Amino acid sequence: MNKEYPIEKQIEDLKQQIRHHDYQYYCLDNPEISDFEYDKLFKQLQKLEEENPMFITADSPTQRVSGSALSTFKQVKHTTPMLSLDNSYSMEDVLAWNERIKKIVDNNEDIEFIVEPKIDGLSASLTYINNSFVSGATRGNGKYGEDVTENLKTIKNIPLKLLLNNKLVLCEIRGEVYINKKDFQQLNENLVDLEQPKFANPRNAAAGSLRQKNPQITAQRKLSFLVHSFGQISGLELNNHSDFFKFCSQIGFPIQKDIKVCKNIKEVTNFLMYLQENRDNFPYEIDGAVVKVNSYKLQKIIGYTNKSPKWAIAYKFPARQATTKLLSIELQVGRTGVITPKATLTPVALSGVIISNATLHNFDEIERLNVNVGDDVIIERAGEVIPKIIKVAKKNSKGFFLPPLNCPSCNSKIFKEDDDVYYNCINPSCPAQFRRKLIHFVSRDAMNIDGFGEVVVDQLLKLNKLHTFADIYKLTFDDLMLLDLFKEKKANNLLQAIFDSKKQPLNKLIFALGIRHIGEKSAQILADKFSNIDNFILATKDDLLSINEIGPILVQSILDFFKNKETLNMIEELKILGINTIEPQKDTSFLPLANKTFVLTGELSTLTRQDAQNLILSFGGKTTSSVSKKTDYIIVGENPGSKYQKAISLGIKILTEEEFKKLINR
Ligand code: IVH
Repeated sequence: MNKEYPIEKQIEDLKQQIRHHDYQYYCLDNPEISDFEYDKLFKQLQKLEEENPMFITADSPTQRVSGSALSTFKQVKHTTPMLSLDNSYSMEDVLAWNERIKKIVDNNEDIEFIVEPKIDGLSASLTYINNSFVSGATRGNGKYGEDVTENLKTIKNIPLKLLLNNKLVLCEIRGEVYINKKDFQQLNENLVDLEQPKFANPRNAAAGSLRQKNPQITAQRKLSFLVHSFGQISGLELNNHSDFFKFCSQIGFPIQKDIKVCKNIKEVTNFLMYLQENRDNFPYEIDGAVVKVNSYKLQKIIGYTNKSPKWAIAYKFPARQATTKLLSIELQVGRTGVITPKATLTPVALSGVIISNATLHNFDEIERLNVNVGDDVIIERAGEVIPKIIKVAKKNSKGFFLPPLNCPSCNSKIFKEDDDVYYNCINPSCPAQFRRKLIHFVSRDAMNIDGFGEVVVDQLLKLNKLHTFADIYKLTFDDLMLLDLFKEKKANNLLQAIFDSKKQPLNKLIFALGIRHIGEKSAQILADKFSNIDNFILATKDDLLSINEIGPILVQSILDFFKNKETLNMIEELKILGINTIEPQKDTSFLPLANKTFVLTGELSTLTRQDAQNLILSFGGKTTSSVSKKTDYIIVGENPGSKYQKAISLGIKILTEEEFKKLINR
C-alpha cells in the first residue's frame, strides 16, 4: 500500500471529484470534463472499492443503484407535515390574496415575493444526517409518505452527500421529482417498443417511475429533482426563501433557473404572465407558478391553515384544452403488427397550433372514455406534441366503438393476449407492417438512407419494387426516375445514400431489421457481444440469456425472428449485395458527434485548439483543417479566418464556443 496516499484517502478524493462533476453536470448543466474523463474517474473508484469493499459507503457515487426489489413500500411519518398549496386561477385571485395577507401583516408597505414555476411532478422529502443522504419519502397524504429511498438514490441530480465542510446534523430538503418532456417522449416510445402501456403525461410517468418496486427500473427512467422547500434543518438561520435557494445551490442541489424575487405584486403578476407565455419553452412541464412571501419572518406572522401555508399561493395556468368533434377513428398497423387507434378531429386551435389528430392510446382507452365517432370531445396537450382525448364533452353517437376483428390492411384475424391491452396482426406478410418496417429500416437511426422518406417508400411499394429489405439495394437509376419529382440529380443522390448505408455498423443493421422489442440500446449490446451477424444468428438461447441486459422476452423474440427461413434468405441476400454485417472493433457510432466533421477557426476563449480537438474526438467526431461540403460544423472564435466566409457560402452550420459546448452536453 502507498503509505503517503492511503487507499481510503484515494477513495475519498475520487468521491469528492465525482461529486463535484456530478454537480457541475446534473445541477449546473456545465460539465468541466468529457464523458470519457468522467467515466475514467468513475471506473477508478469502482475498481478501488471492489478491491477494498470495507471502504464502500452508502453515499458513494457508485452506490446509486444498489437496492433490491421490494414487495411494498414502508410508510414513514414526516417530521413536519408536507402541506399542499391553495390554488388560484386568475390575476384577480392573486391580487385578492395579496390584499388578504397585507391585512394580516397590518402594514401598508409592499411585500417582497418570490415566484417559482410550479413543476408538474410529485413531491419528495430527502433526509440528510451528518451530510449524507439517509432516506427519502413521497408526500403521501402529507403526514405519512412512502419510503422510496433506494429509488431516490438513482436520481442523478440528487446529491448523496452534501457539498459542505461542516456537518449538518439534520437537513430535510423537499422538492419535486419530475421527468423532462424529451425523456418522457422517449420513455413512452420505449414502452411502445416493449408493448407496455404508455404514460398519459409526464407527471404520471414520474410518479409511476418513482414508485417502482424495483430500483433498477427507476434508474433507467431519467428522473430529475428540483428543490422547492424544506422540512427541518438543524442550526440553520436564514432570513428569506431566496437565501434558502442560494444555500441549496451551495450544498449541491439543483435549483430552478426561472425563479424571481419580486418587489411588489405588480412585478409578481408580470412575471406570472411571462411564465404562462413561455411555459412551452421549459424542458419540463409546468402547470402554473407558486408565489411565496420571501421573508421567513413575515411567513411566520402570516401563518398556516391546517392544509396549506397562507403565505403562498399557486397560480394555475389555464388548461390547454379545447373541444372539438371526433370525425373518425383510424386504425394504424405498426411495424411489429400492433394495431392502434388514432382520432381524426375537426381542426381546432390549441395553444397556438391547429390540431386535427389525437392519440387514443389503445382500445381499452376508447372503452374507458366511452367515446365514439361523432361525439364532441375535450382534447388536452400535456407534455406530448400530439394531444389526447381526455373525455367526451357531448355524446352524439349511439353504440360503442369496437376493436377490429381483422387487420385493416391484410384482413387477417387479429390476436390479443388476455393480459395485454394491445391487438396484434401476426401475419408476417401484412403490407401495412411491411410498409412501416421499410420506413423504419431506412430511417435516420437505422440504416440512415437520406432522402428515403415515407413518400418514396409508398411510391416504390405501389410500383411493386420492394418485397424485402434487400430489394432496396437492387433499385436502379431508372427505377428512381419513375418517382414523382425525381430528376437525375435527386435519383443519383438517393442511389449514393443507399450505397453509403451499406457501411452502417452491425448495431444499426440489427436495429433496422425491426426485431420485436429490440431498440437501439439492445441492438448495440448485441452487436458488441456477437460482432458479426452470423454469430448473432447462430446464438443459442443460453448465449442470449447470458447477456445481462437482454431479458427473456427479448431472447424469445430474437429466436422467433431467426426461425423464419425467408428472413435468413433475406439476410444472405443483404450480404451478397455488400451490406456490412460486422461491428467495428472500437465503436464510436453511439457517441453524440459520431460521423460529424468539424473545422475550427479563430481564437476560442475557454478552450485551446488542442482541447477542442480532443473534445470532438472523445465524442466520436473528427476535425479537418479546411472547409468543404462534407464539413458538418464550423466552430468560430475571435477573429476568424477565411474558412468562416467559405462556411457561410456553403451553408455550413456555424457554432459559437458556447453552442459547441451545449452540443456535447452529455
Ligand atoms: S412549495 C408548503 N414550490 O405543488 C408548500 N411546491 O400543489 C410546499 N410544487 O405539493 C411546496 N412546484 O409538490 C412548491 N415551486 C414549487 C412547486 C411546488 C411544484 C408542487 C408540490 C406541492 C404541490 C402543491
